Amino acid sequence: MKDLAGQLSDAAGAAFVSLGLDAALGAMRRSDRPDLADFQCNGAMAAAKKLSKNPREIATSVADALKASPLVASADVAGPGFINVRLSAAGLSARANELATDERAGAPKVEKPRRVVMDFGGWNVAKEMHIGHLRSTVIGDSLQRTFRFMGDKVTSDVHLGDWGLQMGLLITALQIEMSDLPYFVEGSNGHFPEASPVTMDDLGRLYPQYSLMIKETIGEEPNERPNPAYRPDIHEAARKATAELQAGRPGYLALWRHFCSVTRVGLERECASLGVKFDLWKGESDANELVPEMTEDLKSRGLAEFDAGAWIIRVKRETDKKNMPPFMLVNRDGAVGYHATDLATILDRKRNLDPELSLYIVDERQALHFEQVFRASDLAGYLPEKGLEHLGFGTVNGPGGKPYKTRDGGVLKLYELINEADATALARMKEAELGADVSAEEQADIAHKVAVAAIKFSDLSNVRTTNYIFDLDRFISFEGKTGPYLLYAAVRIKSLARRAEAEGVKPGPISIELNAERALVLALDGFGDALGGAYEKRMPHIICEHAYTLAQAFSGFYAAAPIMSESDPAKKASRFALAMATLKQLELVLGLIGIETPERM
Ligand code: ARG
Repeated sequence: MKDLAGQLSDAAGAAFVSLGLDAALGAMRRSDRPDLADFQCNGAMAAAKKLSKNPREIATSVADALKASPLVASADVAGPGFINVRLSAAGLSARANELATDERAGAPKVEKPRRVVMDFGGWNVAKEMHIGHLRSTVIGDSLQRTFRFMGDKVTSDVHLGDWGLQMGLLITALQIEMSDLPYFVEGSNGHFPEASPVTMDDLGRLYPQYSLMIKETIGEEPNERPNPAYRPDIHEAARKATAELQAGRPGYLALWRHFCSVTRVGLERECASLGVKFDLWKGESDANELVPEMTEDLKSRGLAEFDAGAWIIRVKRETDKKNMPPFMLVNRDGAVGYHATDLATILDRKRNLDPELSLYIVDERQALHFEQVFRASDLAGYLPEKGLEHLGFGTVNGPGGKPYKTRDGGVLKLYELINEADATALARMKEAELGADVSAEEQADIAHKVAVAAIKFSDLSNVRTTNYIFDLDRFISFEGKTGPYLLYAAVRIKSLARRAEAEGVKPGPISIELNAERALVLALDGFGDALGGAYEKRMPHIICEHAYTLAQAFSGFYAAAPIMSESDPAKKASRFALAMATLKQLELVLGLIGIETPERM
């Protein structure tokens, strides 16, 4: 099933072929002047150059051929040789009926499904999820939904940060603050207490406090300066503890397990609340058992070199213009860091999942890290560089473009943010007199769906690579380009469906007459293209854009073409069918963004 652009391109392509030209010249796209045309083709200009002929002449013969298509109402030549096409009502009606009966609402599917790994979330153990962790989670989830819908076989992995220096730092912190805990007794192999010595709140306090002590400098370039709080002794102790943990010191491992499980509770709660699921809850630590084997392999093949006490892989290339430091395999303490755990994870994934494509949805600022890791993987012959992609994203800022902070200057925790969004959504619903006739429980459930829709849509509707300003008040509005507006549009159609059912109205054959109906079919027809674009470019905002266009087109249609009050039964059934086709597609599209539609509001 081809979309309208595809069908028209075929017809125009055939006309070019009959002139002895390339079919590709017939490519038709949406007109940028919908007042003049639905679609346009610019191929005649390129063709004229090739044949050194007049472009208008070529355009005229292609336009004449197009007029014979039942899909076309008019085909005109404009300017130097543009071909402008208006679709026929019959053509639009046929397409509308096709979309209405297709269970994928016009969405394409890949011919050859791929095995795809998606690495997102990437939260760090002992660090409470905060607003900064939203993007990876929300973008990654939208991409996993999109790729699955396209037919790929996706395995998502949260890849927890649970093995680096920060773990040794926390052990050190605890050793300083609670030195008589049994975990620190040297040589102890004994049984350690089952209850965690720390709560998430403790970790949430210790982590930032001690992290500051191992930062040699603070501020960012060009205002980077020595950190007065830097503690070389603590830095050294943390590095030593990290190496000992990684080597399997029992007391440290026991303590580390507590850190992990205490953190997991919060992470799982936030995931459930946002409706995000991972296939694998693996972490950096899971790569640890592969590290010795990997290191040996890389050394024996001469890929790793011993340099200044550490084992490195040189990944710099002649063609590099930017600085490309070596890949760090084992540091001078014998500990493995972020590079090595990522490379070992690639090896692990190759063995267990054999992905054709791996997508890393991680902050843009880690671009260099991934380039180094991907090059090392390619050199080692694990997974080829061309199947490894870092999908970076910009930061979430607060008003004024500065990193988002709470009123007291702290970082806003993700669960606090969700609670605040829930409360705001509920208040907005009351203002708009929505959800007044449902139980308090259902009302809270609807408010949460509205809140999640607001948070996800506002994040995903931005071009992935740009920064954006987080503004809950603006995001939770039932008007404008927002998640709640889209939800409301879908809920409105659902309520229409209930009324229609109560009155025995059934969908019938769609027959397009009004301009608002034409516009709605054109919007529905754009789904395949939007989905394909979002999939190819890994850019969820394209789907968001489509959702908004569709909701707006529906609202124009609903205003111009009343359904329940229509007296002609054929028109009523046609419009109702169009509304149902819209609902089906809108719910699919919202599903790709990770937005769940309530039954009522
Ligand atoms: N835990 C990392 C961080 O907070 C992100 C992990 C991203 N994934 C990966 N495979 N490196 O920076």
